[in-house]
Amino acid sequence: MTETRSAVVGCGAYLPSKILTNADLARMVNTSDEWITERTGIKSRHIAAENEKTSDLAIAAARDALQDAGLKPSDIDFIVVATSTPDLTFPATATTVQAALGITHGFAFDLQAVCSGFAYALTAADSFIRAGHGKRALVIGAETFSRILDWEDRTTCVLFGDGAGAVILEACQIKDQMRERCVIGSLLRSDGRHRDKLFVDGGPSSTQTVGHLRMHGKEVFRFAVNAIAEVVESTIAKYKLTPKDIDWFVPHQANKRILDGTAKKVGIAPEKVVVTLDRHGNTSAASIPLALVTAVRDGRIKRGDLVLFEAMGGGFTWGANLVRW
Ligand code: UT7
Repeated sequence: MTETRSAVVGCGAYLPSKILTNADLARMVNTSDEWITERTGIKSRHIAAENEKTSDLAIAAARDALQDAGLKPSDIDFIVVATSTPDLTFPATATTVQAALGITHGFAFDLQAVCSGFAYALTAADSFIRAGHGKRALVIGAETFSRILDWEDRTTCVLFGDGAGAVILEACQIKDQMRERCVIGSLLRSDGRHRDKLFVDGGPSSTQTVGHLRMHGKEVFRFAVNAIAEVVESTIAKYKLTPKDIDWFVPHQANKRILDGTAKKVGIAPEKVVVTLDRHGNTSAASIPLALVTAVRDGRIKRGDLVLFEAMGGGFTWGANLVRW
């Protein structure tokens, strides 16, 4: 007996050309390369050009993923863009991507789960394919957080960057979800009691402004390590695996201390953790696919590897996905 599942058949990325280093930031606010490096692990981040919108980043990542998969835009049945920095309040950035790619069939929508956006979008697209809503999905994480940062607030402006990453999911018929290439499963969580610890202080129905990102960093940090460890451990246990079975751990890139702390708590060896935040900063929903593409293209992640994604962000939202590459 076979069952319909989804598998990742291509991935792509796009980073704006402008690079902002810690030294650049030290000329803008009262900070230093030493502080940022020691507390976060970030050395530089990419910043979108003035005329570059989230959709432009998403379109570039989507084209890269299509080329990687050897597919045409018309092969795609639906598009999910995970973003908290859409071009406009509506319509969805995903429809702008759809139009730019010349796709006029199927459907496209945005999904908002802040830094957990990609984990949520992958789960949603996998579920849609399993339920028969389409055969191929473009799943994109794209953000221009530079547009919602308070550039005078050193506690937040040093942490984030812009970018986009994409994967293509394709329906497949498999017999053994643990051995064959597919999205094995996902676990998602949220707890809205923590929504005032990481939020944007503006929005259409409250202030009629876009607002700026605000964060109680220490409280987010404290919650993150425990929450991520729990959802990762639960995912590993759900599929009767051990941490040693994981070939590559591709976490949301928020803070090197969170990455190290979580991997240690869970028992995943440091050399299996994919780290790109030194060059990308925290790109929110784009960070997992950007890290993924880096490790696929440099030859670390290979066909047949067991790959674990995790993310945690505003809401709080968090979650994990287990993928046989
Ligand atoms: O992706 C979504 C989830 N987001 C996260 O996961 C972020 C989680 N939080 C963090 O990563 C960390 O809490 C931060 C990196 C944001 C902050 O690190 P911390 O070790 O928690 O530092 P802190 O907030 O306790 O600040 C320590 C000191 C303070 O000075 P005093 O009060 O000790 O005199 C801050 O004012 O560092 C100061 N500080 C800075 N100094 C230089 C805060 N930001 C900066 C800065 N440069 N950019």
